[in-house]
Amino acid sequence: MPSRKSPIRYSAVAKAFHWIIAALIVTQFTLAWMADDLPLGAHKLALLARHKSFGMTVLMLAILRLLWRLKNPPPALPPGMTPLERRLARVSHAAFYVLLFAMPMTGWLMSSAKNYSVSWFSLFTWPNLIGKNEAAFDLLRSTHDTLSVVLFSIAVLHILAALKHHFWNKDDVLLRMLPLVKSEKAKSENRS
Ligand code: HEM
Ligand code: HEM
Repeated sequence: MPSRKSPIRYSAVAKAFHWIIAALIVTQFTLAWMADDLPLGAHKLALLARHKSFGMTVLMLAILRLLWRLKNPPPALPPGMTPLERRLARVSHAAFYVLLFAMPMTGWLMSSAKNYSVSWFSLFTWPNLIGKNEAAFDLLRSTHDTLSVVLFSIAVLHILAALKHHFWNKDDVLLRMLPLVKSEKAKSENRS
């Protein structure tokens, strides 16, 4: 439900969080799929080490983004959307926020359960969260895999929805999230 204090567009901070995290998510899938195709060896481990470092970066950014978001409500959805579309938008955005925590946490727990260290770009090492446990590792690995499919599916729907808003509904939902773009609605609010 949009609050009365809803702004008319996303702020630079909201856009920065959105696009940096989106780029990191694409990087995460690319690194994981590249590693998946390789036999166990130095190259695979190097790709996974980078995957873990970027993944932990997502976790840190997700914490900051959530704290920031709690104090900064998003702009209201355009009036032309049906109740179902509004619900889908809210549920998918909430699911994204949950996954931005669940993906890194299951990855971190999975590595801990195997007693593999999680370093952050070789600058420091995160503590292991649980002791070595093969059964927990198997469960966490399949959870991480399954959640990645859920994240991928929601991202595809999310991108299609953004394109539908822009090309079909012709509203400013996509424009107001794009960096360096000021939507027509924001311009006219400033003029009045
Ligand atoms: C937003 C963050 C993350 C995303 C989107 C992500 C996504 C993925 C994906 C798509 C896979 C391949 C799954 C498959 O086998 O098909 C994968 C595998 C893996 N991820 Fe992540 N991940 C994230 C964070 C992390 C973190 C923080 C860690 C560890 C600290 C981690 C550790 C791993 C490991 C070790 C694998 C390989 C598992 C295996 O051997 O099958 N991930 N991840
Ligand atoms: C996989 C990467 C992505 C993730 C995790 C993601 C996540 C999110 C989240 C959580 C929001 C809600 C922001 C908030 O209210 O706090 C959002 C909004 C938005 N995203 Fe993404 N996004 C991704 C990729 C994209 C891409 C590639 C596009 C463009 C094609 C896009 C377009 C939008 C738009 C237009 C909004 C604003 C929707 C509105 O005004 O209600 N996103 N995204």
